Amino acid sequence: MNEETRMDQIVSLAKRRGFIFQGSDVYGGLSGTWDYGPLGVALKRNIMNLWWQMFVDGRDDMYGVDSAILMNQKVWQASGHVDTFVDPLCEDTVNKRRYRTDHILKDNGIDPDGMTMEQMDAVIAEKGITSPDGNPLSPSRTFNMMFRTHVGPIADDSSVSYLRPETAQGIFTNYRNIVDSFYPDLPFGIAQQGKAFRNEISPRDFVFRSREFEQMEIEYFIRPDNWEAEFDKWVGLCREWFRALGLPESSVHEFEVPEEDRAHYSKRTIDFEFDYPIGREELMGIAYRTDFDLNNIQEHSGRSMEYIVKGTNERFVPHVIEPSFGVERVIMAVLSTAYTEDEVNSEKRIVMKFPEHLAPVRFAVSPLLKNKPELVEKAREVYAHVKQKYGAVMWDDNGNIGRRYRRQDEIGTPYCIVVDFETIEGDGTVTIRDRDTTEQRRVTIEEL
Ligand code: GAP
Repeated sequence: MNEETRMDQIVSLAKRRGFIFQGSDVYGGLSGTWDYGPLGVALKRNIMNLWWQMFVDGRDDMYGVDSAILMNQKVWQASGHVDTFVDPLCEDTVNKRRYRTDHILKDNGIDPDGMTMEQMDAVIAEKGITSPDGNPLSPSRTFNMMFRTHVGPIADDSSVSYLRPETAQGIFTNYRNIVDSFYPDLPFGIAQQGKAFRNEISPRDFVFRSREFEQMEIEYFIRPDNWEAEFDKWVGLCREWFRALGLPESSVHEFEVPEEDRAHYSKRTIDFEFDYPIGREELMGIAYRTDFDLNNIQEHSGRSMEYIVKGTNERFVPHVIEPSFGVERVIMAVLSTAYTEDEVNSEKRIVMKFPEHLAPVRFAVSPLLKNKPELVEKAREVYAHVKQKYGAVMWDDNGNIGRRYRRQDEIGTPYCIVVDFETIEGDGTVTIRDRDTTEQRRVTIEEL
């Protein structure tokens, strides 16, 4: 199967089985938005909870926050987003459709990395590249990706606000609060999970490039003199995270982002790229943001962002290492790693081989026959018992056992438990079937 087909199969399964739907589907959709169904939201929560456990609850030096999405416009002026959070945009001169210039180059087999907007335009002119509809393209201009809105009943310049394009600024603006309330020793981190919004010129590739998505970010405050060691530590921690997600090590690649391609605030950036079915693309990044953000806040707010080392007079504005994780990119990596086609008894089967701790449903419980009340009653008992213990347990009595197994394989349920006549007449054991090997064995209900 080629990678394009594989991607189509994953998108189709995600919809068919209730993981992810197009946003506003019933009205023809809203480009770049996605809705999570029962299984999608369970998968997403498992991923986000694992992250929180690993990077916040599991550590002594991390403080969680949940800041407002709407923030004072000064936040985005100070951070540089109002002036520089832009993408290059060009237009089909005939039908007025708009495109991201670097995407046009990529789609024509040219690597735009490191090119200025003028250089991209020059390549388009030189090679005679046209729009996907075959029309000439306009020269590029910059397009700010922040969604603008007004807060309150008066729509003037003073009420302008933006839907946050990164969760990071809600962390920086709470740095002073955390220091004043908790007085942590350096280094320490502040972590946040939540929605971010970007008015992407061309959202595409399923949830990979969305206009509304979820980020998990950490600003790790450090002494400036050992930023390199702290940066390296975070590279190692991200590798651990990929292992915890069950991503094959060989599919994750480090890319040292050249200076001309780094965000305006970064002195060093490593992107982790993943071999998605759509190609090798950015999964997440780590940036050394220096004291750029805290200094800007200090300047624009007039409040000191200095950290005073306990018991001394030493004071300085801490520097920051920022690991920034996009949830949708993780979901795509996990979905594409899990998607497997194999054969069972000469029949093709699709199976999502999620790691057990990420699977949206951990157990499915069935009576062998749904028209035998004694089996159903016992199966309900087993279901209640397992559900109380594990939560993510599904009752499934639709169709014959073979069909139930196929359905549970498609949603990635690691174990199917079946109550049969031996359970009620024999030794009280149930069968438990392993998703990956399809092997069945008998265990007692207590063993479950
Ligand atoms: N605070 C730094 C920051 O936001 P970024 O590289 O612009 O850095 C961080 O974004 C991560 O957010 C990316 O590595 C990616 O995982 C995710 N991300 C960015 N734009 C996205 C989009 N349009 N759709 C889905 N995820 C996105």
